[in-house]
Amino acid sequence: MKSKIDILNEKLNLAHLGGGQKRIDKQHAKKKLTARERVNYLMDEGSFEEIGALVTHRTTDFGMENEVYYGDGVVTGYGTVNGRLIYIYAQDFTVFGGALSETHAEKICKIMDLAVKVGAPIIGLNDSGGARIQEGVRSLGGYADIFFRNVQTSGVVPQISAIMGPCAGGAVYSPAMTDFTLMVEDTSYMFVTGPNVVKTVTNETVTSEELGGAHTHASKSGVAHKTSANDIECLEDIKKLLSYLPQNNTAKPNALEFKLGEETREVLSNIVPDNPNKPYDMQAVISGIIDDHSFYEIHKDYAENIIVGFARLAGRSIGIVANQPQFLAGVLDVKSSKKAARFTRFCDCFNIPLLVLVDVPGFLPGTDQEWNGIIVHGAKLLYALSEATVPRVTVITRKAYGGAYDVMNSKHIGADFNFAWPGAEIAVMGAKGASEIIFKKEIANADNPIKKLAEKEAEYAEKFANPYRAAQRGFIDEVILPKNTRRKLIKAFAMLENKKVETPKRKHGNIPL
Ligand code: COA
Repeated sequence: MKSKIDILNEKLNLAHLGGGQKRIDKQHAKKKLTARERVNYLMDEGSFEEIGALVTHRTTDFGMENEVYYGDGVVTGYGTVNGRLIYIYAQDFTVFGGALSETHAEKICKIMDLAVKVGAPIIGLNDSGGARIQEGVRSLGGYADIFFRNVQTSGVVPQISAIMGPCAGGAVYSPAMTDFTLMVEDTSYMFVTGPNVVKTVTNETVTSEELGGAHTHASKSGVAHKTSANDIECLEDIKKLLSYLPQNNTAKPNALEFKLGEETREVLSNIVPDNPNKPYDMQAVISGIIDDHSFYEIHKDYAENIIVGFARLAGRSIGIVANQPQFLAGVLDVKSSKKAARFTRFCDCFNIPLLVLVDVPGFLPGTDQEWNGIIVHGAKLLYALSEATVPRVTVITRKAYGGAYDVMNSKHIGADFNFAWPGAEIAVMGAKGASEIIFKKEIANADNPIKKLAEKEAEYAEKFANPYRAAQRGFIDEVILPKNTRRKLIKAFAMLENKKVETPKRKHGNIPL
């Protein structure tokens, strides 16, 4: 007779085998790790504790009572990543293709509830054929239970999703409601309906990869915040992302040790060209300001006219929002406004101070933008920055024109510190456009209108294409030399460390969606 210990070991061994060796081999043949391999790689060695390894489904339809696997297609539990407590679930594609059953969903909900009670981030590794077809509405109910928790958890603990295989139909809405979605190139895809349904409904012929692969979502839709070449790289990306985040909304991110030195960076003096119409790379400004190699970019290939990401400044985690003059002259448009607004709100939820670097010629004109609602989407960024109560510091490196000046963390919408470089132009618009409007008659009546326009342009530029009018009014706190920017920012953020803002009591604001 088997001993009680043998019985337990047998069950656990079965649980560890998931859908069996043949299916594990199939998973490996697709260049994918299994759920357990992923969890073990992500967590500090030996730290993972599984919860619910012996859970099984309760379905009896379609002969399912004879197809029972311990764990029911998802590995759930907790452990540490670089010493910090993390909750995790990893869908096991070897069991019913990782399809979500009622019990599978219950396991996920259980650890989500724990993560909120204890106050630690939750990571979801998605690899699933969607709703467990044999269970029908019970499976759909399971999804909704998770969605509801995603929303209750939002802004309480960081939620990170990795898509490491299929993620289709209703399944996509859980990752969509978490804070960050990472996708593995070539082996993952996300869509609400697959290529076959698309063909039937819209008559479009499209592959899974084109419709919802990692590249598509990272560059076209913005659904993916980051892509990775393979499973290992994706798990490393999660570890790195976590390092910038706090455990929950009442905590601050971990600061690394830092010893303040001179902190001047000469490299910053030579980045912005003299000609205001010449582009330059704002990434060079970011690198010149932050701690070496500390930038973790989010949405790198989406709306490249704005840069967002985490970095460290004097060891502290900060969020950066920066116009990128190298793309579309750094203009604000529908996509870049949404991208920056979402990032801003994440930082504000989780006590990550914001640095905003400004070189913006305005909002992108045109029917495409207007008809796609640039008014409402631009308002998102204005709203998100206005409501953010974390320390907020701005540096205007060059242009800050028109309404975009207001939006990009101006003093008026609550920025704590506003710096400008000496070449900054803070005006309603560029000197040429402004002169053409306000001196229209004078120019038209001149003997040499071209010469007149040039004169007027120079006159306007001298008056307004500088940071001093704004500094006179206190809209700019200090005009600084580029090389001193890092030092000034370190001091400003240190001074703001204990910033507290009381906001009026309300249920929630009504951000323009
Ligand atoms: N419910 C139950 N079982 C599912 C499932 C689901 N939604 N999706 C996949 N499976 C099972 C398959 O029956 C298969 O079982 P087996 O190992 O016993 O043969 C296993 O998971 C692997 O699926 P398979 O189709 O062989 O893998 P694949 O890599 O070729 O294709 C999918 C993966 C996800 C594209 C494909 O399985 C699929 O289209 N699934 C259905 C998706 C769907 O419509 N879901 C419901 C709506 S959300």
